[in-house]
Amino acid sequence: MKTSNIFCSSCLVLIVGTILLLVEGLPLGNGGLLEQKTSREVHKYGSRSDSFVLNEPLRIVKTEAGKVEVISGDEEDLLRDENIGLNFVTIEPQALLLPQYIDASCVVYVQQGKVRVGWVKDDQLNQEDMEIGDVFVIPGGTVFYLLNTDVGQRLRVFGLLDTSESLDKRGRFQSFYVAGGVDPPSILSGFDPDVVAAAFKVSRSEVTEILDAQNQGPIVYTSRRQFEIMSRPSSTWSWSNIVRDYVPNIFQKGRTYRAYNLLKHHKGFRNNNGWSIAVDGEEYQPLKKVDAGVFAVSLKPGAMLAPHWNPRATEIAVVTNGTGTIEIVYPNGTSALSTKVEPGTIFVVPRYFPMCQIASREGQFEFVGYSTSSRPNRPQFLAGSTSVLKALDEETVAVAFDVPKERLRVILDSQNDAVILPGFIEPPRSVA
Ligand SMILES: *[C@@H]1O[C@H](CO)[C@@H](O)[C@H](O)[C@H]1NC(C)=O
Ligand SMILES: *[C@@H]1O[C@H](CO)[C@@H](O)[C@H](O)[C@H]1NC(C)=O
Repeated sequence: MKTSNIFCSSCLVLIVGTILLLVEGLPLGNGGLLEQKTSREVHKYGSRSDSFVLNEPLRIVKTEAGKVEVISGDEEDLLRDENIGLNFVTIEPQALLLPQYIDASCVVYVQQGKVRVGWVKDDQLNQEDMEIGDVFVIPGGTVFYLLNTDVGQRLRVFGLLDTSESLDKRGRFQSFYVAGGVDPPSILSGFDPDVVAAAFKVSRSEVTEILDAQNQGPIVYTSRRQFEIMSRPSSTWSWSNIVRDYVPNIFQKGRTYRAYNLLKHHKGFRNNNGWSIAVDGEEYQPLKKVDAGVFAVSLKPGAMLAPHWNPRATEIAVVTNGTGTIEIVYPNGTSALSTKVEPGTIFVVPRYFPMCQIASREGQFEFVGYSTSSRPNRPQFLAGSTSVLKALDEETVAVAFDVPKERLRVILDSQNDAVILPGFIEPPRSVA
């Protein structure tokens, strides 16, 4: 039995919308956090506020069918300063993350697997089937659920939350489950049972029947039959799924609720050494709401993303494949971070900070992430054919370095590639 079938969906939304009741949906206590902070050597080069590599996310939901892990501004100063939180949702095949809303708008990026997102807008259920590379925005306070629609593959979703309007001013965000019961508690449980009975026009025992059943936690498996019904092609949008792959831009203009596939987006940069793609608010309007951009980078073995900085936004990324090295530099020209990273490592590069990412020689190095502005990002490169040093006039640069212009020319003209460079000509002493 699915509890949601019994409810009149508009009554439910009404009740939920009328009275906000805080439940401990996300038990974000910070008991274990201080210990975690010291467990990894990430503060080597700076003060507490300079932890460019973030601590492991905190697991706030763990059931047989999946888990939810989060990093909030409460734990990381760099995130709090930007009013952002991160979440990582893993859902087993055919399992469901129960309907809920969050006190923060969320950008969702599908890292692996297939998912159906169901959400309510203007009393209507909307559904969208998404796959790897899809980007989607769920406004704060909107009821949604996630169903892993694949029968064999685990679903992984990486989300960025805008916590600027969250209840908790320390940068935490919380889930409010509209359906549920014992575990997770439904927000309905917070009302007097008589009030709920009157609101739904049922008896008190019928209220108990509904609110005492669910005890499997926020992520549950569906039965074969339930899955069959829940994963049926959605009539609302299925035709548009086909259209958007062919005319993505035209179709998305003005449409608030359409996923955008980052990996099918061909405007990115590509050369022999790798590729990088990004989507901003111009390209995909819903990103303006959360003021975020999404990007992905893939470097061939040994390749490097040329030293550069972002004049407009901070970047938060997670390594999705391979290993590599990340270097970040302080304004005073000293190293802020130089570290090896592996899949799952989450790193933050503050706005204006120079950085460089280098793939290890063993394999491809990939990361995806968010930038904290929906405006087009215009990275400024130090090396390569698009270097700012080459854009400046030679005489000025020669004076600034205090070297002869002829020598400078030889050095600056040696690299013919741009943006993504082949990498080391001789094995580096410190990084290998
Ligand atoms: C450079 O700046 C960092 C961060 O502010 C500071 O920790 C470090 O001591 C500075 N180094 C020098 C040589 O000034
Ligand atoms: C990771 O990269 C390797 C190539 O280096 C590729 O074979 C593999 O499919 C990639 N894995 C994922 C999860 O993208």
